[in-house]
Amino acid sequence: MSGKPVCIADFEEYAKKFLPKSVYDYYRSGAGDQETLADNVAAFSRWKLYPRVLRDVSVMDLSTSVLGQKISMPVCVGATAMQRMAHADGETATAKACHAMGTGMMLSSWATSSIEEVAEAAPAGLHWLQLYVYKDREVTKSLVKRAERAGYKGIFVTVDTPFLGRRIDDVRNKFQLPPHLRLKNFSSSDLAFSSGKDFGENSGLAVYVAEAIDASINWEDIKWLRGLTLLPIIMKGILRADDAKEAVKIGVNGILVSNHGARQLDGVPATIDVLPEIVEAVEGKVEVFLDGGVRKGTDILKALALGAKAVFIGRPLVWGLVYHGEEGAKEVLQMLKEEFRLAMALTGCQRVEEIGRTLIRRHQVLLSKI
Ligand SMILES: Cc1cc2nc3c(=O)[nH]c(=O)nc-3n(C[C@H](O)[C@H](O)[C@H](O)COP(=O)(O)O)c2cc1C
Repeated sequence: MSGKPVCIADFEEYAKKFLPKSVYDYYRSGAGDQETLADNVAAFSRWKLYPRVLRDVSVMDLSTSVLGQKISMPVCVGATAMQRMAHADGETATAKACHAMGTGMMLSSWATSSIEEVAEAAPAGLHWLQLYVYKDREVTKSLVKRAERAGYKGIFVTVDTPFLGRRIDDVRNKFQLPPHLRLKNFSSSDLAFSSGKDFGENSGLAVYVAEAIDASINWEDIKWLRGLTLLPIIMKGILRADDAKEAVKIGVNGILVSNHGARQLDGVPATIDVLPEIVEAVEGKVEVFLDGGVRKGTDILKALALGAKAVFIGRPLVWGLVYHGEEGAKEVLQMLKEEFRLAMALTGCQRVEEIGRTLIRRHQVLLSKI
């Protein structure tokens, strides 16, 4: 890349050049043969847009809301762990960038900045906590209570990670945090994933998850969580209509259609392909969101046309942080915003509410072309 980035791939190219290999591999990788990783992106191009013309798009409004909170555009930042490996300011830079851009940030349980540090970095910002359910329920509960006290507006409980997916590069690299960092939400060194421990021949993170995260997680735990907090609860990692219906029955407030950025089970469908059936299953009772492979303004428009209230981005934000900390994160969000504005204009939508199902159709892929 020479000159300023003009698309999200340019930010990634920069990150690949400047990050240590094991860190870049951790951020980039998917699970297994990474079929789903490629498909998350490729699937968007199987959906084609049918623009409306002559609809006066000289004045436009990109704003919308997530669970009652107003945002400037339907693009939010999803949880990506350990952001201080990408930039010294890590999650606090992300929080400031999101606030400046008028959107929300989901903080990972495995952040290298604490719940409170992120709240302090952007006191008027919109924050949600991504929650992993720990074997120690007191630890889990205290994360939720700290998020409540710090003014977070919801809990995204990740339900696709009873064990960590097999990420081959991380196994090869025996991935660990660099010695100067730890997971800031935990005081004990075991839960803080501090370096120096012998994780054998495996990815250190995979060993950490097997030791600390509860593989017995089930629907009763979501009911327990529902009883623990009045904050909205959103289930992150749903790919099936029956699971979505069950989640609604239990009383969650939202569903994030996600395959964890293709980092858990390889061979699952691209999220954009399952979005329509999840939207249909919940019958408008809760808000539905999508993440996975969102790299362009037209991807955002396609997800909204298929019924998502908003999308979340993972890797693109990390590449922005590597590029230039808070400013780089802002540049990524600004780029997606401008691309989305153009996609709306060229499909004849003045307002986000006008983006609907008639704008999009799935094109069949001919088997002979595969
Ligand atoms: C480097 C990295 C770290 C992640 N960490 C977490 C995490 O701590 N908790 C979680 O629920 N999801 C995590 N995810 C998944 C993201 O929240 C999100 O589902 C995914 O990145 C979206 O796909 P995208 O990267 O293609 O935008 C992580 C993803 C990446 C790439």
